Amino acid sequence: MAGITDLPFRSMVLRFGAGLVVSEMVASEDMVNARPSTRARAELAAGDARTSVQIAGREARWMAEAARMLEGNGARVIDINMGCPAKKVTNGASGSALMRDPDHALSLIEATVNAVSVPVTLKMRLGWDHDCLNAPEIARRAEEAGVRMIVIHGRTRQQFYKGRADWAAVRHVVENVTVPVVTNGDIVTPASAREALRLSGAAGVMIGRGAQGRPWLLAEIAAALTGRPAPARPRGEAFADLILEHYERQLAFYDTDLGVRTARKHLTWYLEDYPDAAALRARLVRESDPNRVRAMIRSEVPDLGAAGMKEAA
Ligand SMILES: Cc1cc2nc3c(=O)[nH]c(=O)nc-3n(C[C@H](O)[C@H](O)[C@H](O)COP(=O)(O)O)c2cc1C
Repeated sequence: MAGITDLPFRSMVLRFGAGLVVSEMVASEDMVNARPSTRARAELAAGDARTSVQIAGREARWMAEAARMLEGNGARVIDINMGCPAKKVTNGASGSALMRDPDHALSLIEATVNAVSVPVTLKMRLGWDHDCLNAPEIARRAEEAGVRMIVIHGRTRQQFYKGRADWAAVRHVVENVTVPVVTNGDIVTPASAREALRLSGAAGVMIGRGAQGRPWLLAEIAAALTGRPAPARPRGEAFADLILEHYERQLAFYDTDLGVRTARKHLTWYLEDYPDAAALRARLVRESDPNRVRAMIRSEVPDLGAAGMKEAA
């Protein structure tokens, strides 16, 4: 997720355990033409076997070149973004706009698959709108082109993030291909993961927003689905330690000034399930001195009351 699944956040999620995590979307042309420093950031930890690097674009040559560069830097899986609904992306005819032009989409997919030897996967939505639910058709053609796994966010582009993800509609994709299909959208608990799998018939689930402020969620859901004991959710001192670790990683990765700002949304998410943390949250996101942020977390988080969040079902 752009702006969220950076290296610090992915590290926190992987600490608890996850089958696969995905980088922020990288614009393929920027990737190829970017300054070395920009490139280094996009590629960090690409060599991790559980990290997939996602690229977006609208020209086959940039997609192929970006994929080649990433593979050269150790990427183990390359994912193609055909799901992003943002106007600045779709107006550039990439992201979910590609679903309106399947022939062109296929030319990008083929170019990417042919450029690398690591597996290439595809992320898309159900279609552009309800009159154009063409994910099953694109998935079949993508499979023929060599795509090894397909993730479907169960909404159309025109829905953006509104309404409910339609897990049952993902089944049409599952039935049209032999490669694994992963269902995505609104999965936030083991119960919703089970229901999404039941309705879609998919081979797996992908979690997005549910993991914000809950880096343990992927491990918790995986444990529930496979009948293993769930990892303990950090509470009290352990919860403060976790937040502080993430905070330090943000500051080290982005440098202090930027890190203080990029950390704020994560601090908010960590505390949003705690009814008695509203005042602390407000103070944390206004504070620019990292030492005062650290002190507040250290002194106030361990004493927060029980989380009022949706408990694992
Ligand atoms: C802020 C934000 C940024 C996102 N960025 C990306 C992205 O870069 N690539 C992508 O494939 N999906 C992106 N998504 C979509 C999510 O991966 C996911 O498909 C969607 O949020 C539905 O799943 P969820 O309900 O589990 O979040 C983004 C979503 C949000 C809210």
